[in-house]
Amino acid sequence: MAEDRVRPARPHHKLTDDGRPMREVLSYSRRGSRFTPRQAAAWEAHHERWVIPDEAVDDPGFSLASWFGREAPLVVEIGSGIGEATAALAATRPSYDVLALEVWVPGVADALGRVAEAGAANVRFCSVDAVWVLEHLLGEGQVAELWTFFPDPWHKKRHLKRRLVDAPFAHLAATRLAPGALWRLATDWADYAAQMEAVLGAEPLLEGGVVPRWEERPVTRFERKGLAADREITDLAYRRVG
Ligand SMILES: C[S@@+](CC[C@H](N)C(=O)[O-])C[C@H]1O[C@@H](n2cnc3c(N)ncnc32)[C@H](O)[C@@H]1O
Repeated sequence: MAEDRVRPARPHHKLTDDGRPMREVLSYSRRGSRFTPRQAAAWEAHHERWVIPDEAVDDPGFSLASWFGREAPLVVEIGSGIGEATAALAATRPSYDVLALEVWVPGVADALGRVAEAGAANVRFCSVDAVWVLEHLLGEGQVAELWTFFPDPWHKKRHLKRRLVDAPFAHLAATRLAPGALWRLATDWADYAAQMEAVLGAEPLLEGGVVPRWEERPVTRFERKGLAADREITDLAYRRVG
């Protein structure tokens, strides 16, 4: 894939009152788009069936059910990376549809290979900004479970505002959860864990906090990086109330 094929998904859509594009703070940065031969092979083999093209979401008649080919309870994973958690967890939940949101396309290609190896036919990938997807594609109460494992830490002070899990996002995500549905998170950055606890704890639609490691969650690339750097891993779980 050519370097210029990766574009930030759906940013710069918002306009100021006088019609100028608004500067948006994104939770991800542009990364390389080149495929390794293994990624290219996985992409070639599976993308037509399992990747929702960016343009598709602009169709006013867009329907997730038609991309999954059925109606089933929906799990959403934000930042699926190379799909380690996606593949393992989707394979053990065949009755759920799993929508994996990941803007880094080579990661999606890797994930396609993993999902195929795991024999999971219930995953669809979308490389559009997850915030945009939650705002525009997912309805109130549509999500049966939400996973956010090792979101980009943006640990430098000037970058903190780019963290995905902040108060407005906590509210948006909470509204997309069905009553009683869980939002599971994990991070290897203690101050991000504290931020998650603070903003999710302050969200009236959510109840929960720090939990023991979710046993089913496989160790992912970013968890391995955190462990190698001696960082403590924190799992959190919140349930939508009300
Ligand atoms: C630190 S990685 C973690 C990946 C994986 N969950 C793991 O544990 O290895 C975070 C991922 O989230 C993706 N990401 C960040 N913000 C996103 C957004 N707004 N929409 C979709 N993906 C996003 C990034 O591209 C990156 O691959």
